[in-house]
Amino acid sequence: MPSSALKGLILAGGKGTRLRPLTFTTAKQLVPVANQPILYYALDSLVQAGIHDIGIIISPETGEAVKAAVKRWCPSQIKITFILQDEPLGLAHAVKIAHPYLKETPFVMYLGDNLIQSEILPLVKGFQKEKAAAHILLKAVENPSSFGVAELDKQNRVVNLEEKPKHPKSNLALVGIYLFTAEIFKAIDAIKPSKRGELEITDAIQQLIRSGKDVQSMIVKGWWLDTGKKDDLLEANRIVLDTYCETQIQGTVDENSQIRGRVEIGKGTKIMNSVIQGPVKIGNNCLIESSYIGPYTSIGDNTQIQQSEVENSVFLEHCKLANIPGRIEQSLIGQECTIIRAQNRPAAYRLNLGDQSTLELL
Ligand code: TTP
Repeated sequence: MPSSALKGLILAGGKGTRLRPLTFTTAKQLVPVANQPILYYALDSLVQAGIHDIGIIISPETGEAVKAAVKRWCPSQIKITFILQDEPLGLAHAVKIAHPYLKETPFVMYLGDNLIQSEILPLVKGFQKEKAAAHILLKAVENPSSFGVAELDKQNRVVNLEEKPKHPKSNLALVGIYLFTAEIFKAIDAIKPSKRGELEITDAIQQLIRSGKDVQSMIVKGWWLDTGKKDDLLEANRIVLDTYCETQIQGTVDENSQIRGRVEIGKGTKIMNSVIQGPVKIGNNCLIESSYIGPYTSIGDNTQIQQSEVENSVFLEHCKLANIPGRIEQSLIGQECTIIRAQNRPAAYRLNLGDQSTLELL
């Protein structure tokens, strides 16, 4: 079975409450990591594995924005089907409503806010060869109690799954990428909503195991990032810049500026009297003047930074930052934010601002 015989299902609905205030105005899956919407990483990963027929779960609140972003990304040979989920009733609910689209075809389900370093093609091939009802991906973590946790037998078959257990039986967390056959639909029909009112995918997989189906697992190599919260997103930005950022200077850098390490500078961007210490990505039409931009920073298009220092942060588009004493670090700044200082007052800042915020330090 070639992987083109598989479909893809990306979950890009949900509430995104843990990433507020950004998600009041932006879909969680469209928040950029290294200046690219998180969702694009999932799409690229599926396409790289030869999957060209992809369904995307969207919500009524952010569905149109997701559609527009996917349209900007979409290569011509890829068929995309949007599936509206009226309410975020759980990951297994999303799979259930995608049944008319998926039919009986095996599929890769990808959480739209997850990123992994390794290619999924070997995982897809393993799934096609083994002919199990499902394959789940696992990653050893230090804090398994914060995740779905799997217990395996000697053949790597999954014998038990627990959601956020107090006393985890292993350190293997469930990664947000799953491979399913149509068996999953029967399992979903047999489960009830959990205490939080959602149809849980862990319960559905547990149901597969209970009914004697083979559920295999694979340990993911390289990093796995779940961008659900601010610090996760900054960590994802750090790791993606570290892995992929290459020097590419399309804008202009004046003679009083220094570019150190791997730095990407977009078209129309001006760097004046500044130091940029990579890995850093700066979008198009930005102005960086008399400033320091430190490692692991991504700056969206049309942003201006003057007389300020920034490090380990993500700025979305159209922001304005001027005369800030101290260094802005570990900060996530939404679109169109203005941060301007009126008087000299040394301080450190840790910010988590939503779109269109204005912070005046007086
Ligand atoms: P979660 O991070 O589990 O849920 P959420 O997006 O609602 O976030 P929060 O807990 O902060 O409120 O979702 C994982 C991915 O699956 C994410 O891309 C959103 C998507 N999703 C759906 O498409 N439908 C759903 O019913 C749920 C719960 C999530």
